[in-house]
Amino acid sequence: MTTTEERRPAADPRPASPHLLSRRARAVLPATGFGPRPATAVPGTIGLHGGVPGAAALPLAELSRAFAEELADPAAPSLRYSVPLGIPELRQWIGADEGVEPGRVVVTNGALHALALLFDALLDPGDVVAVENPTYPLVLTLLRQRRAQVLPVATGPQGLDADALEDALRAGARPKVLYTIPDFHNPTGASQPLAVRRRLVELAERYGFLLLSDNPYRELRFDGGRAPDLDPASQNVLHVNTFSKTLGPGLRLGWVSGPEWLVPALQDARRDSDQHTSLVVQRSVLRFLREPGAYETSLARTRAVLARRHEALRAAAQRELDGVVELPAVDGGIFSWGRVLDPGIDLERALEVARQNGVDFPLGRYFSPAGPHELTDRFRWGFSDLTPEQLDEAVRRAAAALTSPLARR
Ligand SMILES: Cc1ncc(COP(=O)(O)O)c(C=O)c1O
Repeated sequence: MTTTEERRPAADPRPASPHLLSRRARAVLPATGFGPRPATAVPGTIGLHGGVPGAAALPLAELSRAFAEELADPAAPSLRYSVPLGIPELRQWIGADEGVEPGRVVVTNGALHALALLFDALLDPGDVVAVENPTYPLVLTLLRQRRAQVLPVATGPQGLDADALEDALRAGARPKVLYTIPDFHNPTGASQPLAVRRRLVELAERYGFLLLSDNPYRELRFDGGRAPDLDPASQNVLHVNTFSKTLGPGLRLGWVSGPEWLVPALQDARRDSDQHTSLVVQRSVLRFLREPGAYETSLARTRAVLARRHEALRAAAQRELDGVVELPAVDGGIFSWGRVLDPGIDLERALEVARQNGVDFPLGRYFSPAGPHELTDRFRWGFSDLTPEQLDEAVRRAAAALTSPLARR
């Protein structure tokens, strides 16, 4: 009788390694991201990365109550399986907020997941996707994974340049999708005027492309209120949004709203992969949203915290970096898009010195859809998760680096 041991082939053992990855996974290994960071940061490094609302801006007590109440139900309704499109009551809430039928809303695990699902549903290799230059780098990774062709469109102080887009369309460009961030853009902080929003919808309808609005910073206007998103009544408009910047990214709760014909494709994609977004999260957040005044109060607090931090960052930059960098003011959101004024400063070198000084931030080139050789005089400073004192110190350290002889070309 042979044992299992004896039947094993005598080949050399081959330890599993990245050669087992699919071609697609290997292709995205060197993802754009924020570039290589030092393996060990200087202790006490302050990251001007932003991207997350600081704890002071979040409704911690209210959310913890909502989760506790939800889980206290002895029938444990939120620990069951659920439906792929999201629970009807949450789709209803989102639909009412966005001004669309709840049947056109699909709940997702955050905005990035929503974008991945949409690109899977819409794109074939080679399809053209227009994006703002600069843009959110993880979208560039998603597009590279799907082998889409990226068409960068110029932006200015008021966001996407609609004239540049129209010129490209007139010249024969035929994007299937235009991906845009209308409010407090990542990374520039710019917001599109209403006339541009209307014009984008007209162009999308005339040239037959989809206008994909990814608008996570929409609620974060410092003085409250919000601009109308791209017209949800248009069949050419899709919205992606998320509670990541208002209630916290750890929830992984976002959504898509779009034309009805898209919904079955998204439903199939969810059913065949992860089934649905966490029911505990959906039901608990809905419980919070239904508490009278809770969300509005929380948003007001978040906006006030962000406004104070933005002010602190600007004041520190004015004090430490006047004439060295330009850091335009923003009306909301969490990012400031800086530019080095002196062409003798090499930002790449300045960042190396800055990291030794204990401050870190992403360079502009990581947001460039046209390649890392562009936007080399730009950088993004995120101010959402640092106190005014930390921002002060971060700018002081950055200023020492930017004005250091080591940072010169
Ligand atoms: C423009 C943009 N879209 C999407 C996301 C990701 O959102 P989520 O955490 O909901 O996936 C971010 C986060 O930084 C973002 O800036």
